[in-house]
Amino acid sequence: MNKNYLILLTLTVLFFSFGLTFGKTDRNIELAKQTNKAVYTQLSPAEFYKKQCAYCHESEGLIAPDMKEIKKVYLEKYPQESLFVKAMLDFVKHPTKEKALYKKGLENYTLMPKMPFKEEDLKGVIDYIYKNI
Ligand code: HEC
Repeated sequence: MNKNYLILLTLTVLFFSFGLTFGKTDRNIELAKQTNKAVYTQLSPAEFYKKQCAYCHESEGLIAPDMKEIKKVYLEKYPQESLFVKAMLDFVKHPTKEKALYKKGLENYTLMPKMPFKEEDLKGVIDYIYKNI
């Protein structure tokens, strides 16, 4: 067996094992995404709020404004539930500085990150905010 052949063989083995590892990682990420989706639609709006919003919005803190303060500003402009939900949903689905109603939030914090939530979960959670927070 000559040396070049051995080197070629080693490279081929390495190439395939990398392929397998990355292939697996992709499949695992796909699986995690699917499980996440399933879990989140099974959560009640109250649980969803706790898990996905409250850790930033629980109180006026280092990360984000208190949801109660945000809610006040939305209620002033949109007292009617359907309009309140529509406006907040529009922001949360795709936050931009222009859409933000609670201007104090942008003075003290950075723009809320866009997160890949499902629309039905968001509607539920915003409805929950309107009624319970
Ligand atoms: C990673 C932290 C984080 C999470 C999680 C988070 N937010 Fe925010 N959010 C922020 C920050 C920071 C601001 C203030 C800056 C701004 O207005 O973008 C904000 C602002 C807001 C505003 C005010 C926008 C305005 O009109 O001024 C709303 C409404 C809001 N968040 C809703 C939600 C909802 C609903 C959830 C859960 C689905 C959520 N947020 C989860 C960080 C977060």
